[in-house]
Amino acid sequence: ELGQFRHYMQKEIFEQPQALGNTLEMIAGGGAVATQHFGARAPEVFEGARRVLVLACGTSYHAGLVARYWFEAVAKMPCTVEIASEYRYRESVPDPDTLVVVISQSGETADTLAALKHARSLGMERTLAICNVPESAIVRESALRFITRAGPEIGVASTKAFTTQLAALALLTLALAKLNGRLSETEENRHLTALRHLPVAVQKVLELEPEIERWAQRFAAKEHALFLGRGSHWPIAMEGALKLKEISYIHAEAYAAGELKHGPLALVDKDMPVIAVAPADDLLEKLKSNLQEVRARGGELYVFADAGSEIPETEGVHILHMPEHYGMLSPVLHVIPLQLLSYHAALVKGTDVDKPRNLAKSVTVE
Ligand code: M6R
Repeated sequence: ELGQFRHYMQKEIFEQPQALGNTLEMIAGGGAVATQHFGARAPEVFEGARRVLVLACGTSYHAGLVARYWFEAVAKMPCTVEIASEYRYRESVPDPDTLVVVISQSGETADTLAALKHARSLGMERTLAICNVPESAIVRESALRFITRAGPEIGVASTKAFTTQLAALALLTLALAKLNGRLSETEENRHLTALRHLPVAVQKVLELEPEIERWAQRFAAKEHALFLGRGSHWPIAMEGALKLKEISYIHAEAYAAGELKHGPLALVDKDMPVIAVAPADDLLEKLKSNLQEVRARGGELYVFADAGSEIPETEGVHILHMPEHYGMLSPVLHVIPLQLLSYHAALVKGTDVDKPRNLAKSVTVE
């Protein structure tokens, strides 16, 4: 069943172009952005929603954190993203005009399900599940559903589920923007073209595997790593750190790069590799100065840059160029090399990649 692959995780990383194509099937060809992609009742549920609350755990929570940037920038809707296990026990201020978006690969995560029920008990009935399993508890409990079509994910580490969640969230952003009169036809077409091209763009990133494998060789001996990112790529740094912890058992932390000098810079020395997610966006110049701060302390840098980014490769600064800069959807591409890095670091270390110690695929208990 694994075919040419050594592990399910590797197979699932490489299935991402197909999984994204399937998830976005409704806009293939000439399909437009429509509220109905989220269910027949979507027009009435979305109408009048003024803000978004995302509830999820783990990798699914990171997908929500990326989407927050999109909801606010593109749909102009205020958005809060909360860890389900916190939300369910916290005294919060309910607002019935909130669209509650629950994200879960399995649809059975106990805390996420309980958070959804909690939101409903507070009178928030505008609920949407973004889920990979149609017949799951979270889907049954939600007013609306969007089923990602990643196919079964066997590896404990979530990979194709994450990128398909991002695709679903991008589509949701556009649907809400359109409903709010915030999306011109030109903008819609520009976004649709980018979404349709996503499987091809991801395929090109996957071709960087041999280079990432070489980085992983050096990496695997390290005990700690620091991930940096800014804007919508900060959650991508968080996801990269989670993957490295989860399957490579390397202690990793992610920081918004601007926070570096507020504490974590003290940790940086030659034994602390720093991985920077550095797309060619408006924040690149700021990030570059953060990287210099790291270099000045002897930290070794591994930079995931975009094509054409002028970050010089010097002693202790390793640059991997992504094939192209991908605008709003750039986080979908930038997570792929981080998945591959942790996979290959895990291979070097000989850990049980598909079943990391102490973890379960679906966390159905609190
Ligand atoms: O099935 P869910 O998406 O609700 O699962 C949430 C988390 O348990 C999950 O994403 C976990 O963090 C992954 N193992 C990370 O790779």
